[in-house]
Amino acid sequence: MTTAAGVGQTEVGPDGTGPAGIGPAGIGPAGTESAGARSDGVGSAQAERGDPIAGRFPTLTEIRAAAQAVLPRDVWDFLAGGAGQETTLRANRDAFAGWQFRPRVMSGHPVPSTATTVLGLPMRLPVLTAPFGTDGFFDTDGHLAVARANARCGTLSIVPEAGTHSIESVAQAAPAAARVAQVHPMGTERNFVRMLERIERAGYAAVCVTVDCPTAGWRERNLRNRFTVDLRMITGNYPPGGDVAAQDVFGQLFARDEPVWTWDRLARLMRHTDLPWIAKGILTAQDTRAAIDAGAAAVLVSNHGGRQLDGTPAALDQLPEVVAAADGRAEVLLDSGVRCGTDVVKALALGARAVVIGRLAAAGLAAGGEAGVARVLALLHEEMVTVLTLLGHGSVTELTPAALQRSRP
Ligand SMILES: Cc1cc2nc3c(=O)[nH]c(=O)nc-3n(C[C@H](O)[C@H](O)[C@H](O)COP(=O)(O)O)c2cc1C
Repeated sequence: MTTAAGVGQTEVGPDGTGPAGIGPAGIGPAGTESAGARSDGVGSAQAERGDPIAGRFPTLTEIRAAAQAVLPRDVWDFLAGGAGQETTLRANRDAFAGWQFRPRVMSGHPVPSTATTVLGLPMRLPVLTAPFGTDGFFDTDGHLAVARANARCGTLSIVPEAGTHSIESVAQAAPAAARVAQVHPMGTERNFVRMLERIERAGYAAVCVTVDCPTAGWRERNLRNRFTVDLRMITGNYPPGGDVAAQDVFGQLFARDEPVWTWDRLARLMRHTDLPWIAKGILTAQDTRAAIDAGAAAVLVSNHGGRQLDGTPAALDQLPEVVAAADGRAEVLLDSGVRCGTDVVKALALGARAVVIGRLAAAGLAAGGEAGVARVLALLHEEMVTVLTLLGHGSVTELTPAALQRSRP
């Protein structure tokens, strides 16, 4: 199916559509867990020095470059690109530069902890991987590999509905990490409820409902590249010949001929499950309150990584507004533009409980499969420990806006 906006320009197109040896990472005997044996237990850059993947990827920059080198040009554009003129894509990055740290020196803290919880689920690192569909483009194991990497690092996967592998197979591959499954509020109500039942049966602990994607964003790179997505990349949950055709679930993304769902409708359907749920794609106080009133236990501040409505503000810039509106009634998470450990610390200081990484995780997957994603997480962890130490904080849970000030314009 091809539409004006081009099928392939969405992630769910049914037819197709510090140098080693210095800095904290280098302290402690190489090849041992000593430097990385934090109380939170995530491996460290130092601990992985003997690992060939660590040698290939000393920083996240090399991982991103390797992903770009290995992916065909149109797939890279699909991954890296955003909607429209990509103003929101750029704004997401600029927003992180808009904040500076206010360090407290001589704090006396021991090695800082990066451990936290999200919806009661313990995590060694306040980072979840995003539900990115079409994962088979980046590695044939896709989210199986992502979840295994998360399990190794004590983090969690949000497993996508439009993934290459079924939610059941990802749960089986890494039950400790595959704790949140994502769904789109579209298609028939019957299928939506059946999906909730599948999620419960597969042992997930929470649901993530993507509320900012009633139709595919206007992705010009994909239009230009005439990029289309191989059906096999997105039908892990709806295999050909199964009870439900992928077209019946995702068709609305391209046809744009169905009314957009309402909060009332979503609230009614979510009563079919006892699992707590996250509303993904919130940018305003008004929608925060609507999501909480509809029953959301958490809101994910997100503009879909700049892939949906171009011209929306950076997710980070909206975070304080959402935190204030949530007023402690729901946990607040953030995605869109997180590219390094420093970004994670800034988002947490502004009130996010944890962040979600999309392109960063996909780049790790493309660059090195499971080991590549684990390397991304280890580097984020190590950088966060460094930043927290220099900032004078003993734990991610201590971060407040007092750790930051606005950069000069
Ligand atoms: C290739 C790709 C596919 C995606 N597919 C989905 C999807 O199926 N459902 C969804 O809710 N979000 C999807 N997203 C958005 C991510 O979940 C997340 O919101 C976004 O990537 C965060 O921004 P970041 O990439 O800057 O970290 C996708 C993102 C990418 C890059």
